[in-house]
Amino acid sequence: MTDSVQAYLESKRTVDDRALNRRVWSRLADELAACARGQDQPVRIVEVGAGIGAMVARLAAWDALPPCVSYRAVDVDAGSIAFAKANLPTWLESAGYAVERTADGLVARRDDRCLLEVTLETADAFSIADEADAVIAAAFLDVVDLERALTTLPELARDGGVLYAPITFDGGTAFSPVDPLDETIERLYHRHMDELRDQPGSSRAGRRLMTRLPAHGHDVLAAGGADWLVSPHDSGYPADEAAFLRHLLETIDGALTDYSSEALEPAARERWVERRRRELERGEFVLVAHHLDVLARV
Ligand SMILES: C[S@@+](CC[C@H](N)C(=O)[O-])C[C@H]1O[C@@H](n2cnc3c(N)ncnc32)[C@H](O)[C@@H]1O
Repeated sequence: MTDSVQAYLESKRTVDDRALNRRVWSRLADELAACARGQDQPVRIVEVGAGIGAMVARLAAWDALPPCVSYRAVDVDAGSIAFAKANLPTWLESAGYAVERTADGLVARRDDRCLLEVTLETADAFSIADEADAVIAAAFLDVVDLERALTTLPELARDGGVLYAPITFDGGTAFSPVDPLDETIERLYHRHMDELRDQPGSSRAGRRLMTRLPAHGHDVLAAGGADWLVSPHDSGYPADEAAFLRHLLETIDGALTDYSSEALEPAARERWVERRRRELERGEFVLVAHHLDVLARV
Protein backbone atom coordinates (compact mmCIF):
# COMPACT_ATOMS: atom_id res chain seq x y z
CA MET A 1 0.00 0.00 0.00
CA THR A 2 1.19 3.52 -0.77
CA ASP A 3 0.69 6.85 0.99
CA SER A 4 -2.12 7.66 -1.41
CA VAL A 5 -4.22 4.85 0.10
CA GLN A 6 -4.88 7.05 3.13
CA ALA A 7 -5.77 10.01 0.89
CA TYR A 8 -8.16 7.73 -1.01
CA LEU A 9 -9.77 6.45 2.21
CA GLU A 10 -10.16 10.02 3.42
CA SER A 11 -11.74 11.13 0.14
CA LYS A 12 -14.12 8.14 0.37
CA ARG A 13 -15.61 9.27 3.70
CA THR A 14 -18.28 11.59 2.31
CA VAL A 15 -19.13 9.14 -0.49
CA ASP A 16 -19.75 6.42 2.12
CA ASP A 17 -21.67 8.88 4.34
CA ARG A 18 -24.23 9.29 1.55
CA ALA A 19 -24.24 5.64 0.53
CA LEU A 20 -24.71 3.86 3.85
CA ASN A 21 -28.10 2.21 4.07
CA ARG A 22 -29.96 4.06 6.85
CA ARG A 23 -32.33 1.16 7.64
CA VAL A 24 -29.44 -1.23 8.23
CA TRP A 25 -27.61 1.50 10.15
CA SER A 26 -30.62 2.06 12.49
CA ARG A 27 -30.86 -1.66 13.15
CA LEU A 28 -27.18 -1.72 14.07
CA ALA A 29 -27.70 1.22 16.45
CA ASP A 30 -30.71 -0.60 18.00
CA GLU A 31 -28.65 -3.76 18.47
CA LEU A 32 -25.83 -1.79 20.15
CA ALA A 33 -28.34 -0.01 22.43
CA ALA A 34 -29.99 -3.32 23.39
CA CYS A 35 -26.59 -4.73 24.15
CA ALA A 36 -25.77 -1.78 26.44
CA ARG A 37 -29.07 -2.26 28.32
CA GLY A 38 -28.33 -5.94 28.89
CA GLN A 39 -24.88 -5.59 30.50
CA ASP A 40 -22.98 -3.37 32.90
CA GLN A 41 -19.66 -3.37 31.07
CA PRO A 42 -18.85 -1.22 27.99
CA VAL A 43 -20.20 -2.46 24.67
CA ARG A 44 -17.28 -4.08 22.89
CA ILE A 45 -16.84 -3.42 19.16
CA VAL A 46 -14.07 -4.84 16.98
CA GLU A 47 -13.57 -3.39 13.53
CA VAL A 48 -11.42 -5.28 11.02
CA GLY A 49 -9.93 -3.56 7.96
CA ALA A 50 -10.67 -0.30 9.78
CA GLY A 51 -8.47 1.77 7.44
CA ILE A 52 -8.04 5.32 8.76
CA GLY A 53 -10.78 5.02 11.42
CA ALA A 54 -13.59 6.61 9.42
CA MET A 55 -16.29 4.28 10.79
CA VAL A 56 -15.69 4.90 14.50
CA ALA A 57 -15.67 8.66 13.80
CA ARG A 58 -18.97 8.32 11.92
CA LEU A 59 -20.61 6.16 14.61
CA ALA A 60 -19.68 8.81 17.18
CA ALA A 61 -20.70 11.81 15.04
CA TRP A 62 -24.04 10.22 14.10
CA ASP A 63 -24.85 9.30 17.73
CA ALA A 64 -25.10 5.60 16.98
CA LEU A 65 -22.96 4.50 19.93
CA PRO A 66 -24.21 3.56 23.41
CA PRO A 67 -22.82 5.61 26.34
CA CYS A 68 -19.89 3.31 27.14
CA VAL A 69 -17.97 1.68 24.31
CA SER A 70 -14.67 -0.10 23.98
CA TYR A 71 -13.70 0.00 20.29
CA ARG A 72 -10.80 -1.96 18.81
CA ALA A 73 -9.91 -0.87 15.28
CA VAL A 74 -7.58 -3.24 13.44
CA ASP A 75 -5.92 -2.88 10.04
CA VAL A 76 -3.03 -4.75 8.48
CA ASP A 77 -1.69 -1.50 7.00
CA ALA A 78 0.51 0.35 9.51
CA GLY A 79 0.28 3.58 7.47
CA SER A 80 -3.50 3.68 7.81
CA ILE A 81 -3.36 3.01 11.54
CA ALA A 82 -0.76 5.80 11.93
CA PHE A 83 -3.07 8.12 9.95
CA ALA A 84 -5.99 7.15 12.24
CA LYS A 85 -3.88 7.88 15.33
CA ALA A 86 -3.03 11.31 13.94
CA ASN A 87 -6.52 12.32 12.74
CA LEU A 88 -9.18 10.51 14.75
CA PRO A 89 -8.81 12.81 17.79
CA THR A 90 -9.70 15.84 15.64
CA TRP A 91 -12.67 14.07 14.02
CA LEU A 92 -14.03 13.10 17.46
CA GLU A 93 -13.47 16.62 18.79
CA SER A 94 -15.57 17.91 15.86
CA ALA A 95 -18.28 15.50 17.03
CA GLY A 96 -18.26 17.17 20.46
CA TYR A 97 -15.95 14.79 22.34
CA ALA A 98 -13.06 15.77 24.61
CA VAL A 99 -10.19 13.51 23.60
CA GLU A 100 -7.15 12.24 25.49
CA ARG A 101 -4.55 10.32 23.52
CA THR A 102 -3.27 7.06 24.99
CA ALA A 103 -0.29 4.88 24.02
CA ASP A 104 -2.35 2.80 21.60
CA GLY A 105 -5.31 5.03 20.77
CA LEU A 106 -7.49 7.43 22.72
CA VAL A 107 -10.19 7.96 25.30
CA ALA A 108 -13.04 10.29 24.29
CA ARG A 109 -15.68 11.72 26.60
CA ARG A 110 -18.89 13.64 25.93
CA ASP A 111 -21.65 15.00 28.19
CA ASP A 112 -20.07 13.37 31.27
CA ARG A 113 -21.87 10.16 30.42
CA CYS A 114 -20.32 9.00 27.16
CA LEU A 115 -17.03 7.23 27.27
CA LEU A 116 -15.47 5.92 24.12
CA GLU A 117 -12.19 4.05 24.42
CA VAL A 118 -10.51 3.37 21.08
CA THR A 119 -7.47 1.19 20.47
CA LEU A 120 -5.85 1.36 17.03
CA GLU A 121 -3.88 -1.71 16.13
CA THR A 122 -1.82 -2.91 13.17
CA ALA A 123 -2.68 -6.60 12.77
CA ASP A 124 -4.04 -9.18 10.37
CA ALA A 125 -7.78 -9.62 10.94
CA PHE A 126 -7.33 -13.35 10.49
CA SER A 127 -4.88 -13.71 13.34
CA ILE A 128 -6.59 -11.84 16.21
CA ALA A 129 -8.93 -13.12 18.91
CA ASP A 130 -11.77 -11.34 20.71
CA GLU A 131 -15.21 -11.75 22.21
CA ALA A 132 -16.96 -8.64 20.98
CA ASP A 133 -20.61 -7.65 21.00
CA ALA A 134 -20.27 -6.41 17.42
CA VAL A 135 -17.78 -7.02 14.64
CA ILE A 136 -17.59 -4.41 11.87
CA ALA A 137 -16.09 -5.11 8.45
CA ALA A 138 -16.70 -2.09 6.20
CA ALA A 139 -15.67 -2.26 2.54
CA PHE A 140 -13.68 -5.32 3.59
CA LEU A 141 -15.45 -8.57 2.66
CA ASP A 142 -14.96 -7.87 -1.06
CA VAL A 143 -11.16 -7.60 -0.68
CA VAL A 144 -10.61 -10.81 1.29
CA ASP A 145 -11.50 -14.48 0.84
CA LEU A 146 -15.19 -14.48 1.77
CA GLU A 147 -15.36 -18.10 2.95
CA ARG A 148 -12.31 -17.61 5.14
CA ALA A 149 -13.83 -14.39 6.53
CA LEU A 150 -17.15 -16.09 7.26
CA THR A 151 -15.36 -18.81 9.19
CA THR A 152 -13.05 -16.44 11.09
CA LEU A 153 -14.84 -13.14 11.76
CA PRO A 154 -17.87 -14.57 13.62
CA GLU A 155 -15.32 -16.13 16.01
CA LEU A 156 -14.42 -12.58 17.06
CA ALA A 157 -17.96 -12.08 18.40
CA ARG A 158 -19.60 -13.51 21.50
CA ASP A 159 -22.60 -15.81 21.03
CA GLY A 160 -25.52 -13.66 19.91
CA GLY A 161 -23.25 -10.80 18.78
CA VAL A 162 -23.63 -9.10 15.41
CA LEU A 163 -21.56 -8.73 12.25
CA TYR A 164 -22.03 -5.47 10.35
CA ALA A 165 -20.63 -5.52 6.80
CA PRO A 166 -21.49 -2.26 5.03
CA ILE A 167 -20.23 -1.14 1.59
CA THR A 168 -19.67 -4.69 0.38
CA PHE A 169 -19.17 -4.44 -3.37
CA ASP A 170 -21.88 -6.18 -5.34
CA GLY A 171 -21.00 -6.30 -9.02
CA GLY A 172 -22.15 -3.01 -10.49
CA THR A 173 -20.04 -0.13 -11.80
CA ALA A 174 -21.68 2.43 -14.07
CA PHE A 175 -20.38 5.57 -15.75
CA SER A 176 -22.02 8.61 -17.23
CA PRO A 177 -22.04 10.11 -19.87
CA VAL A 178 -22.49 6.81 -21.68
CA ASP A 179 -19.62 5.46 -23.81
CA PRO A 180 -19.85 2.42 -26.15
CA LEU A 181 -16.91 0.80 -24.30
CA ASP A 182 -18.50 1.06 -20.82
CA GLU A 183 -19.89 -2.48 -20.70
CA THR A 184 -16.57 -4.03 -21.74
CA ILE A 185 -14.69 -1.90 -19.20
CA GLU A 186 -17.09 -2.89 -16.41
CA ARG A 187 -16.93 -6.61 -17.28
CA LEU A 188 -13.11 -6.68 -17.46
CA TYR A 189 -12.72 -4.58 -14.30
CA HIS A 190 -14.94 -6.97 -12.33
CA ARG A 191 -13.26 -10.03 -13.85
CA HIS A 192 -9.94 -8.58 -12.73
CA MET A 193 -11.20 -8.54 -9.11
CA ASP A 194 -12.36 -12.16 -9.42
CA GLU A 195 -9.55 -13.77 -11.38
CA LEU A 196 -6.51 -11.62 -12.06
CA ARG A 197 -5.51 -9.37 -9.18
CA ASP A 198 -3.02 -10.61 -6.58
CA GLN A 199 -5.25 -9.98 -3.58
CA PRO A 200 -8.30 -12.19 -2.94
CA GLY A 201 -11.85 -10.88 -3.09
CA SER A 202 -14.94 -10.98 -5.24
CA SER A 203 -16.87 -8.56 -7.40
CA ARG A 204 -20.09 -10.15 -6.15
CA ALA A 205 -19.27 -10.40 -2.45
CA GLY A 206 -22.49 -8.58 -1.44
CA ARG A 207 -24.94 -11.04 -2.97
CA ARG A 208 -22.77 -14.01 -1.98
CA LEU A 209 -22.96 -12.78 1.60
CA MET A 210 -26.76 -13.01 1.46
CA THR A 211 -26.59 -16.76 0.84
CA ARG A 212 -23.32 -17.66 2.56
CA LEU A 213 -24.20 -16.06 5.93
CA PRO A 214 -27.26 -18.36 6.39
CA ALA A 215 -25.20 -21.30 5.06
CA HIS A 216 -22.73 -20.62 7.91
CA GLY A 217 -25.64 -20.56 10.38
CA HIS A 218 -25.97 -16.77 10.76
CA ASP A 219 -29.29 -14.90 10.49
CA VAL A 220 -29.39 -11.81 8.30
CA LEU A 221 -31.12 -9.15 10.45
CA ALA A 222 -31.13 -6.36 7.88
CA ALA A 223 -29.69 -5.76 4.42
CA GLY A 224 -30.01 -3.16 1.72
CA GLY A 225 -28.36 -1.29 -1.13
CA ALA A 226 -25.63 1.23 -0.37
CA ASP A 227 -24.61 2.61 -3.71
CA TRP A 228 -21.89 5.13 -4.29
CA LEU A 229 -23.17 7.96 -6.44
CA VAL A 230 -20.55 10.58 -7.16
CA SER A 231 -21.73 13.44 -9.30
CA PRO A 232 -20.79 17.10 -9.70
CA HIS A 233 -22.92 19.99 -8.46
CA ASP A 234 -22.83 23.67 -9.45
CA SER A 235 -19.47 24.27 -7.79
CA GLY A 236 -17.88 20.95 -8.79
CA TYR A 237 -17.62 17.69 -6.85
CA PRO A 238 -18.37 17.81 -3.12
CA ALA A 239 -15.60 17.61 -0.48
CA ASP A 240 -12.59 15.70 -1.85
CA GLU A 241 -14.64 13.56 -4.25
CA ALA A 242 -12.80 14.66 -7.40
CA ALA A 243 -9.69 13.07 -5.84
CA PHE A 244 -11.78 9.99 -5.00
CA LEU A 245 -12.80 9.67 -8.67
CA ARG A 246 -9.22 10.23 -9.84
CA HIS A 247 -8.05 7.39 -7.62
CA LEU A 248 -10.83 5.11 -8.83
CA LEU A 249 -10.04 5.82 -12.49
CA GLU A 250 -6.39 5.01 -11.78
CA THR A 251 -7.43 1.72 -10.16
CA ILE A 252 -9.64 0.80 -13.11
CA ASP A 253 -6.90 1.76 -15.59
CA GLY A 254 -4.34 -0.28 -13.63
CA ALA A 255 -6.62 -3.32 -13.73
CA LEU A 256 -7.28 -2.95 -17.46
CA THR A 257 -3.58 -2.76 -18.33
CA ASP A 258 -3.23 -6.35 -17.06
CA TYR A 259 -5.23 -7.61 -20.05
CA SER A 260 -3.73 -8.70 -23.36
CA SER A 261 -4.41 -6.60 -26.47
CA GLU A 262 -6.72 -9.39 -27.71
CA ALA A 263 -8.94 -8.87 -24.66
CA LEU A 264 -8.75 -5.06 -24.81
CA GLU A 265 -7.04 -2.90 -27.42
CA PRO A 266 -4.59 -0.59 -25.56
CA ALA A 267 -5.60 2.33 -27.80
CA ALA A 268 -9.29 1.80 -26.94
CA ARG A 269 -8.49 1.65 -23.22
CA GLU A 270 -6.40 4.82 -23.42
CA ARG A 271 -9.15 6.64 -25.31
CA TRP A 272 -11.74 5.61 -22.70
CA VAL A 273 -9.58 6.55 -19.71
CA GLU A 274 -8.55 9.88 -21.27
CA ARG A 275 -12.17 10.69 -22.02
CA ARG A 276 -13.14 10.00 -18.38
CA ARG A 277 -10.22 12.08 -17.06
CA ARG A 278 -11.23 15.05 -19.22
CA GLU A 279 -14.87 14.71 -18.11
CA LEU A 280 -13.74 14.57 -14.50
CA GLU A 281 -11.66 17.74 -14.83
CA ARG A 282 -14.61 19.50 -16.53
CA GLY A 283 -16.98 18.30 -13.78
CA GLU A 284 -19.09 16.13 -16.08
CA PHE A 285 -18.19 12.61 -14.96
CA VAL A 286 -20.67 10.59 -12.87
CA LEU A 287 -19.89 7.26 -11.20
CA VAL A 288 -22.28 4.73 -9.64
CA ALA A 289 -21.02 1.62 -7.80
CA HIS A 290 -23.38 -0.89 -6.28
CA HIS A 291 -22.81 -2.22 -2.75
CA LEU A 292 -24.83 -4.03 -0.10
CA ASP A 293 -24.87 -3.29 3.63
CA VAL A 294 -25.55 -6.41 5.67
CA LEU A 295 -26.16 -6.94 9.40
CA ALA A 296 -26.25 -10.49 10.75
CA ARG A 297 -26.57 -12.25 14.10
CA VAL A 298 -23.56 -14.55 14.52
C1 LIG B 1 -11.25 -0.85 1.02
S1 LIG B 1 -10.36 -0.58 2.46
C2 LIG B 1 -11.65 -0.13 3.61
C3 LIG B 1 -11.14 0.63 4.78
C4 LIG B 1 -12.23 1.13 5.72
N1 LIG B 1 -13.00 0.05 6.27
C5 LIG B 1 -13.13 2.09 5.00
O1 LIG B 1 -14.26 1.71 4.63
O2 LIG B 1 -12.73 3.24 4.77
C6 LIG B 1 -9.95 -2.21 3.00
C7 LIG B 1 -9.04 -2.20 4.22
O3 LIG B 1 -8.83 -3.55 4.64
C8 LIG B 1 -7.48 -3.68 5.06
N2 LIG B 1 -7.16 -5.11 5.04
C9 LIG B 1 -7.07 -5.92 3.98
N3 LIG B 1 -6.79 -7.19 4.36
C10 LIG B 1 -6.69 -7.15 5.71
C11 LIG B 1 -6.43 -8.13 6.71
N4 LIG B 1 -6.20 -9.40 6.39
N5 LIG B 1 -6.44 -7.76 8.01
C12 LIG B 1 -6.69 -6.46 8.36
N6 LIG B 1 -6.92 -5.49 7.44
C13 LIG B 1 -6.92 -5.82 6.15
C14 LIG B 1 -6.70 -2.80 4.10
O4 LIG B 1 -5.44 -2.44 4.61
C15 LIG B 1 -7.66 -1.62 3.95
O5 LIG B 1 -7.41 -0.61 4.91
